[in-house]
Amino acid sequence: MEIKKVGVVGCGAMGAGIVQLCAQSGYQVVASEINDELLNKGLASIEKVLARSVEKGRISQQDKDATFGRIKGTTNTRDFSDCDLVIEAAIENLDLKKKIFAELDGICSKDTILATNTSCLSIVDIAMATRRPDRVLGLHFFNPAPIMKLLEIVKTITTSDETVEVCREFGKSVGKTTVIAQDKPGFIVNRLWIPYMLHAVRLLEDGVASREDIDNAVSLGLNYPMGPLTLADMAGLDILLFVANAIYERLKDPRYIPPTLLEKMVTAGWLGRKTGKGFYDYK
Ligand SMILES: NC(=O)c1ccc[n+]([C@@H]2O[C@H](COP(=O)([O-])OP(=O)(O)OC[C@H]3O[C@@H](n4cnc5c(N)ncnc54)[C@H](O)[C@@H]3O)[C@@H](O)[C@H]2O)c1
Repeated sequence: MEIKKVGVVGCGAMGAGIVQLCAQSGYQVVASEINDELLNKGLASIEKVLARSVEKGRISQQDKDATFGRIKGTTNTRDFSDCDLVIEAAIENLDLKKKIFAELDGICSKDTILATNTSCLSIVDIAMATRRPDRVLGLHFFNPAPIMKLLEIVKTITTSDETVEVCREFGKSVGKTTVIAQDKPGFIVNRLWIPYMLHAVRLLEDGVASREDIDNAVSLGLNYPMGPLTLADMAGLDILLFVANAIYERLKDPRYIPPTLLEKMVTAGWLGRKTGKGFYDYK
């Protein structure tokens, strides 16, 4: 099966990046949002990123126009009817995702592959909302999707080998290195990343070192591109808390219990860069 047209449900932080990535890679893309305002906001964010790439000489004006020309925005799910692959990047809520998949199942051809970009929900629950659980899987992109090199392909017990193979080729075609993970909480990356990030917050909470020294120790001593507290601010403390709680709920492994400091910061609205304050100040 050859993928020619890709649908993306949701044009927020991840959806917009996935739309851009697919269009840049030559695919025809249908991008949906819940209303015109959010759709225009998502498309404008893609336009802005592409315009910056032209300014910096990374792509030509012609490339930008061609990429943007391959994107069709919509608020009507019916426009996904002729897509070969639909990637859902709506908010992280199981009931909503099940509803979206059931709707797509009724609209798309029986061969269409339906993928979710979920970070921590159970793929089999989403697959069973459709009549094609063999054609449902996780395609977990990382933020920002056009830049981050990894694509986690998440196979659940119902996913066919053919579906995984088609998606592995698709991942390659958009320039990603793919890894295959089973449908278990956190897949590979978040299963490893969350305990590490929570541990860094606990170090700060326990007064082992200052925020700067924790970050410098990790970035210089372990040669990581940035320290964990800087990274937490960038990812969003609410996202870190949400994913940790979601994995803890399913695994009951104490390594995923969020530290009190993280909970308090989220309650105070200190979510990191996006609110101007997290472990560091950005105002
Ligand atoms: N942000 C990250 O770093 C990250 C990384 C990997 C995976 N994810 C996952 O990707 C998904 C999206 O996350 P995000 O950060 O882009 O969220 P976001 O809130 O920025 O974007 C979600 C968008 O989906 C839209 N939406 C909701 N219901 C919809 C529907 N029925 N049809 C069309 N659009 C709909 C919303 O209006 C919103 O604009 C989540 O499942 C999240 O867990 C996020």
